Amino acid sequence: MAQLGLGMASLGRPGYINLGHGEDLKHDHSIAAVRKNAFEVLNKAWDSGIRHFDAARSYGRAEEFVSQWVRDASITPQEIIISSKWGYTYTAAWKVQTPEGVAHEVKRHELPVLQRQYATSFNQLGDHLKLYQIHSATEESGVLDNHAVLQFLDRIRQTGTSIGLSVSGPRQSETIEKALTIKLNGERLFQSVQATWNLLERSSELALKNAHDLGLKVIIKESVANGRLTSRNQAPEFRARKDQLSQLAREHGTTIDAISIAAALNQPWAGIVLSGATTADQVTSNVAATTLRWDDELENQTSKIAEAPTDYWNSRAKLDWN
Ligand SMILES: NC(=O)c1ccc[n+]([C@@H]2O[C@H](COP(=O)([O-])OP(=O)(O)OC[C@H]3O[C@@H](n4cnc5c(N)ncnc54)[C@H](OP(=O)(O)O)[C@@H]3O)[C@@H](O)[C@H]2O)c1
Repeated sequence: MAQLGLGMASLGRPGYINLGHGEDLKHDHSIAAVRKNAFEVLNKAWDSGIRHFDAARSYGRAEEFVSQWVRDASITPQEIIISSKWGYTYTAAWKVQTPEGVAHEVKRHELPVLQRQYATSFNQLGDHLKLYQIHSATEESGVLDNHAVLQFLDRIRQTGTSIGLSVSGPRQSETIEKALTIKLNGERLFQSVQATWNLLERSSELALKNAHDLGLKVIIKESVANGRLTSRNQAPEFRARKDQLSQLAREHGTTIDAISIAAALNQPWAGIVLSGATTADQVTSNVAATTLRWDDELENQTSKIAEAPTDYWNSRAKLDWN
């Protein structure tokens, strides 16, 4: 079974796109309150046995928070894996909603951005930074054809930090397959891939299996579909599938989110499944997935609720920052 990690996309900034982020933070968006909440979640995750923590330059103060937290708790680099990402710059200025025309984060997959962001990430995290990932590599961003970028990543790899990429959108599989072909100095550049896989969107499955078979660590993100695979989802179009998942959760004495995360943990090619918990209680609920006994019957019962990838990604694009 894969291991559970903790993603920090919802923990380092006042706004995020999951269903009830504002409520989770009790609408207190001061830096002190967001930091306090992040530390509570990090502590709960650590006490629950989680040892992989995933940040990004664009997750507001996520790198700063996790680096303060490991120092306060005297956690050594040998005890923990912290991964981060470069490629998006945080531009929301600590606001939940940005003014019309101003993005929350700006994507640029170019060498100067990599050099600037890697210097900052390394400065924040030092030897605790074990994995550095391209944030949402796509064919359109051109990053997998940018030799200057690939060579710089290879130089980071030679310092002992693993190199990975994350992917998003309905064409995740093509990007993964392309990444698997990239070799520098005779060695495959990427040692991990982070992709969306959940009960609603399983289309990257074969590419992720291929990555696993070639020795890459597969990291699953968005395992509860940004909150859509939790009891919080009240969307009428999800009603029938929610009833089905609730019934399964009752039969197994657990929650919808735990069933969904257990489905990911039990994929044979999965290495890490990120919990995206925003509160300590959500960590507890998500961690229950690790003790749920997964079997063929559960696999069959949950295998039929997937959506067409384009429908899935269209719904995701409609989620509001809150
Ligand atoms: N392109 C990329 O590289 C990329 C993109 C996305 C994510 N990621 C990584 O993956 C991690 C997880 O992604 P994610 O947070 O976007 O998606 P997710 O894990 O599918 O969703 C997590 C959200 O689900 C809701 N939730 C979880 N447990 C719950 C419970 N018991 N009850 C009610 N709601 C619950 C919470 O949202 P609310 O409470 O706010 O509703 C929580 O923030 C991120 O932190 C990040 O590290 C990477």
